[in-house]
Amino acid sequence: MNYSPSSSNICHSPRVTVVGAGKVGSTLAQHIAEKNLADVVLLDVVAGMPQGLALDLMEARGIELHNRQIIGTNDYADTSGSDVVVITAGFPRKPGMSRDDLLLTNAKIVVDAAKKAVAYSPDAVYIVVTNPLDVMTYLSWQATGLPRDRVMGMAGVLDSARFETFIAMELGVSPLDVKAMVLGSHGDLMVPLPRYATVNGVSITELLDEATIERLVERTRNGGAEIVELMQTGGAFFAPASSTYMMVESILLNQSRLLPVTAYLQGEYGLNDIFIGVPCRLGCGGIEKVVELHLSDAERDALHTSAQAVRNNITRAQEIFAGIGK
Ligand code: NAI
Ligand code: 2OP
Repeated sequence: MNYSPSSSNICHSPRVTVVGAGKVGSTLAQHIAEKNLADVVLLDVVAGMPQGLALDLMEARGIELHNRQIIGTNDYADTSGSDVVVITAGFPRKPGMSRDDLLLTNAKIVVDAAKKAVAYSPDAVYIVVTNPLDVMTYLSWQATGLPRDRVMGMAGVLDSARFETFIAMELGVSPLDVKAMVLGSHGDLMVPLPRYATVNGVSITELLDEATIERLVERTRNGGAEIVELMQTGGAFFAPASSTYMMVESILLNQSRLLPVTAYLQGEYGLNDIFIGVPCRLGCGGIEKVVELHLSDAERDALHTSAQAVRNNITRAQEIFAGIGK
């Protein structure tokens, strides 16, 4: 029998580049490979480090029973043709530090990463994870020059997962039965929506009193800081990596999941020219739809207050960039 090899795209393995091979990036790379979702390129500025992590992950393949390629590199040329690019490069918070303190340092890193990555993967969907998240997503979108459906930030999935966890812990029920949505910025002004939080369809407003719900909302708002204070060396990374994985999976498998995503708004929720967390349908092209919920006046005010804080930081970041000649 004659075989005639062709360049058919049945040989195309989906490829995800993860920029920043630190705690979030390397854990995400592990999930993507070990859940057999895609090949992974792990890129970091530190020489040898992503190469070592990639080799370590490759050596686990026979045990974890998958055949994915994991490449570690310091060179963006190796990221060429990625389907999804996740940017986790930058620095996490130290105790007592706000996400906004990270603004300048991480802005330079993220803009540089976005520009270099898009030169090699112009057709990819981009997910930003680096903090301060909403601003970094805005700057990445500008730096890539891509349409708004292909650049987004990860925060709402994580913040919602935290809210769900605290609800499950309070009620002593399985987290599998709890669903919640947290909108707004990824910061102290995020907007958890108790009205939309349910335990197998039953609203938590039926199950918990107002004071308890407010306590859980407050703990959700401080969810990242609570872990930073406990760990003292860096921030959360297991749940952030799992949350990012969920978004990557929905895109690569075209699942059209409805997730809270940091998305560019053009009039939705009465907001313009801003990235902020709202419910979105995520599929193979990226954001397929921004879903507009009927928010109460208080919820809408909270979303707008949250947006104003993001807007102030975008302005500040742009002033800083203008000042240093970009
Ligand atoms: P980490 O310090 O473990 O890893 C960051 C990595 O970025 C390091 O390996 C570092 O060498 C690399 N890096 C720095 N400059 C770079 C550059 N120019 N190019 C490529 N790589 C570069 O930090 P971790 O814990 O992984 O967190 C990463 C970022 O994600 C932080 O900004 C953190 O605040 C943020 N984060 C955001 C979350 C969210 O919900 N959006 C949740 C958790 C973390
Ligand atoms: C978190 O929420 C630090 O943003 C990060 O855990």
